[in-house]
Amino acid sequence: MENQYIIKGGTPLHGEVTIGGAKNAALGILAAALMTNDTVVIDNLPDVRDINVLLDAIQGIGATVKRREPHVVEINGSTIKDNTIDYDSVRKMRASYYLLGALLGKYHKAQVVLPGGCDIGSRPIDQHLKGFRALGATVNIEYGMIHTQAEKLVGNHIFLDVVSVGATINIMLAACMAEGRTVIENAAKEPHIVDVANFLNSMGADIKGAGTDKIRISGVEKLHGSEYSIIPDQIEAGTFMIAAAATKGDVLIKNVIPKHLEAISVKLIEIGATVEEFDDAVRVSAGHRLGHSQIKTLPYPGFPTDMQPQIATLLALSEGTSIVTESIFENRFKYVDELSRMGASIKVEGNVAIIEGVHGFTGATISAPDLRAGAALVVAGLVAEGYTTIDSIKYIERGYECFEKKLCALGASIEKIPVDDERAVQKFKLKIG
Ligand code: UD1
Repeated sequence: MENQYIIKGGTPLHGEVTIGGAKNAALGILAAALMTNDTVVIDNLPDVRDINVLLDAIQGIGATVKRREPHVVEINGSTIKDNTIDYDSVRKMRASYYLLGALLGKYHKAQVVLPGGCDIGSRPIDQHLKGFRALGATVNIEYGMIHTQAEKLVGNHIFLDVVSVGATINIMLAACMAEGRTVIENAAKEPHIVDVANFLNSMGADIKGAGTDKIRISGVEKLHGSEYSIIPDQIEAGTFMIAAAATKGDVLIKNVIPKHLEAISVKLIEIGATVEEFDDAVRVSAGHRLGHSQIKTLPYPGFPTDMQPQIATLLALSEGTSIVTESIFENRFKYVDELSRMGASIKVEGNVAIIEGVHGFTGATISAPDLRAGAALVVAGLVAEGYTTIDSIKYIERGYECFEKKLCALGASIEKIPVDDERAVQKFKLKIG
């Protein structure tokens, strides 16, 4: 049964929210956990759809997966019987490609369906494959599957043509048990790269320089068990920061690493919001209409592409003309049509959105085009006058745990109801008044 969100906008968010573990770090860490035959315990795992799909796939190849608690999983890779991953569910998920690097590194052989993921533009994986080949593997693509194998993997010097989060993590996975030394140059520097490297090091790998553009890996013969807690999700935190500012609210966002949120904090301060940083929390408030800005998405530490739809939604409500340039993915403005139906004034030309701020949105019936755009539309619904319904929320649930519950706890009027359930709509309206 498909669900949708129904929202009555107009309430400023107030209170405290706790952020979960980083989905994109968890995806790499779960794959890495398969590389030892010992048991690995992973804490602060987000309970979201992408993670659960990957856990199913991991179980499907024979690994032992025990979900001790919603956010704690125990994995043992010694029982893996198969190195072919070919499930429909995985096909829709981008990060299934991490199983290639992990299984190639451990077993020297892996076959994985070509990844899908959110449709936010062409998403080639040539840099991942270039890295595997540089380590001595053969790579073939046949019938929608990637086949890779190697007699042995030998470290090499790899210069990435584009800064890629996925390729950096995948090559780190494949190289950490290769013979000798690997250097990845022009590596991505995202916090989740550092987290995957820290996790691998906790298993006995020898990875240095993660978080800089040059990562040095000395291969080790084997990896051992570990207990590890995943870093907080920078994008979930950023989304609540924007929601607080857009609704002119005041929210303390807990369990974050403020340093990872700097690009977002700086922009919010620049346009007039108040951002207070604590050791592991940030407080965002705005008492008035915010100002305009120019934003260009860039690899970390630049402004994250995964926050582009949310900040553009905020700028669409701010004073003056803002320019948002998307430099990572070419198809990331699909939410603009939906926002326009709510009253936004945005013109997209190529990878640039020109935003004329309006005073407010009005509720509409809209659809989430992808994960982050979907989250941005929820923010729009929280601000809009009247009722908004958002369908295709399955995209949003890929990456946000209990999104509507966390928002309700901050005072928002939002509920998850079945699509086409008129009675549920009426019930919500009666309750909200
Ligand atoms: C990851 C994140 C995604 C985020 C993105 C950028 C995961 C599961 N997803 O995606 O949420 O939006 O980083 O921060 O962690 N490219 C190539 N060849 C390659 C690989 C990438 O040309 O082999 C290009 C892409 O088309 C894109 C750019 O490099 O233009 C960055 O992509 P990349 O960093 O690889 O994104 P993902 O790892 O797919």
